[in-house]
Amino acid sequence: MMFRDNLLKDRTIIITGGSTGLGHAMAEKFGLLGAKLAIVSRNEENLKAAEKKLRKIGIECEHSVCNIRDFEQISRSINEVVSSFGSFNVLINNAAGNFVSPSENLTAKGIDAIVDTVLKGTIYFSTQAGKYWIENHIKASILSIAATYSWTGSGYVMPSAAAKAGVLAMTRSLAAEWGPKGIKSVAIAPGPFPTKGAWDRLVVDSRYEDMLKKRNPLGRFGNLDEISDLAAYLISPGADYINGEVVTIDGGEWLNAGGEFNILGNLSPEEMAVFNRRVK
Ligand code: ADE
Repeated sequence: MMFRDNLLKDRTIIITGGSTGLGHAMAEKFGLLGAKLAIVSRNEENLKAAEKKLRKIGIECEHSVCNIRDFEQISRSINEVVSSFGSFNVLINNAAGNFVSPSENLTAKGIDAIVDTVLKGTIYFSTQAGKYWIENHIKASILSIAATYSWTGSGYVMPSAAAKAGVLAMTRSLAAEWGPKGIKSVAIAPGPFPTKGAWDRLVVDSRYEDMLKKRNPLGRFGNLDEISDLAAYLISPGADYINGEVVTIDGGEWLNAGGEFNILGNLSPEEMAVFNRRVK
């Protein structure tokens, strides 16, 4: 562990999508650093299994079943967390949904499923958390999980890219509006990293996985530990002065969004010589 013991002992944290993938990895990391945790998702079975695992390693954890597309359910969930722990002071907006589709084939149902979860769900949860914090004069933090493609855009997952770009605008807007009230708002923009959820939905075949790795300047995916370390830092007292910032953690993948010339790296010396002759 690269952090001091009990770094997050004053933090009571709600993590949406906290029972699987990155949400679960962050919950474990924050818990081992002394935080109390409330994990939120729609699926009670997953929540119970995750809660059991976290408790087994000594982490104080509760769960709350909540569909973040539903404003009322969020309000109930926040009340549940407050009655379990007395209060809370961090919200991690991690829950998301995605699927691959040519944009011209999208239906209203498909678009709504992504935008309602990723953008509206994040705004719903953040505004209700903020209302509670402001009414109770609580100093607090919001950390939202966006993506490299919130900056660059990305074909075939356009609603997710658009919704996550909206999450960045929410992050900056709330940072400006609620900073004076003691509430900071930041975001992380990871590149692709292997979780079951993401891989089931997005990585259709291993050639695509190879291509993703190759276009990354560091030639590999990130791992859950690296992303959770960054998240832990951003909600720790050491990062109190970081507000409205989006930290990209993707090995420099976004640099290749405009990297059509990077294909030259795959040429043999003979092919490169031909190319060089042509451009002279
Ligand atoms: N994870 C993915 N979609 C979700 C939703 N609608 N509510 C809570 N967690 C989710």
